[in-house]
Amino acid sequence: MNLAPFIDIKSISYAYPVQKQPGMVISQEQRSMQPVPALYEVSLQIWPGEYVVLLGHNGSGKSTLARHCNALLLPDAGRVLVDGLDTKVEAMQRTVRDRVGMILQNPDNQIIATIVQDDVAWGLTVRGLPASLIHERVTDALAAVGISHLSMLPPHKLSGGQRQRLAIAGILALRPQCIIADEATSMLDPLSRQEITALLHQLNQEHGLTIIQVTHFLEEAALARRIVVMEQGQIILEGTPAEIFADLERLRSLNLAIPEPIALAARLRDAGFPIAPEAVTIEALARELMH
Ligand SMILES: Nc1ncnc2c1ncn2[C@@H]1O[C@H](COP(=O)(O)OP(=O)(O)O)[C@@H](O)[C@H]1O
Ligand SMILES: [Mg+2]
Repeated sequence: MNLAPFIDIKSISYAYPVQKQPGMVISQEQRSMQPVPALYEVSLQIWPGEYVVLLGHNGSGKSTLARHCNALLLPDAGRVLVDGLDTKVEAMQRTVRDRVGMILQNPDNQIIATIVQDDVAWGLTVRGLPASLIHERVTDALAAVGISHLSMLPPHKLSGGQRQRLAIAGILALRPQCIIADEATSMLDPLSRQEITALLHQLNQEHGLTIIQVTHFLEEAALARRIVVMEQGQIILEGTPAEIFADLERLRSLNLAIPEPIALAARLRDAGFPIAPEAVTIEALARELMH
């Protein structure tokens, strides 16, 4: 059994460099200001095959932490090991980025080619892989995200949810071990949001991919094995959905919106009904109550 974490974040701190605008006069006061840390002494271990949700309101440091997991950002202090590789070692950074794929909020920023299948192939083409291997990987990736039937279309003909699937296929084609989805559902309609979350769970369960889903939607966190809550650049809570959802007041105090079904489920639990934490829609609550 492999007992090493896949990602080992060891007490990292990070502050974005203060940007000096051209012609900007820096006052004495500003000069003495330290950059505000976006992360402060954060430690976290992500295990192979885990599904972790990183939850927190805007500005809490989720994206900054996510970018440290694939060497897009390097810590000012502390270390990040990905599959045992230190992200600060320049020679390792390419490998780290191949092993940990990142999906972003807006699929359109991740789509490059004018035909779906060429877009999925793009990352492999620039890496100079042989055509037969590219073909095989593109076919597999399109099938894994369920858009094989759209392979010859231009991406702009796809819906938002389908374009996000395409972005995921492009990452999958590179055969990563881990996917970080950074607010990858936040521009989508509620149904597509659910579908993309379901797809991430499917990739986790059927392909054994380690998944880190970054979100500020509580509903999306309900199915995770573990929820990590961030606030002001630190991890302040960690637990199973049942543990985290048990204290909704705490989540409210962190400026996280509590969807009505989750609030209702908490009241029902208080009244003695054993409602599962995954029941985050009115329909699911109704099913729980009918059992
Ligand atoms: N490129 C940047 N330059 C300067 N400050 C940034 C930058 N990106 C984020 N920050 C700051 O770092 C903190 C954490 O931001 P971020 O990691 O993006 O949070 P989240 O993803 O949870 O919304 C915030 O205070 C934010 O303003
Ligand atoms: Mg963010």
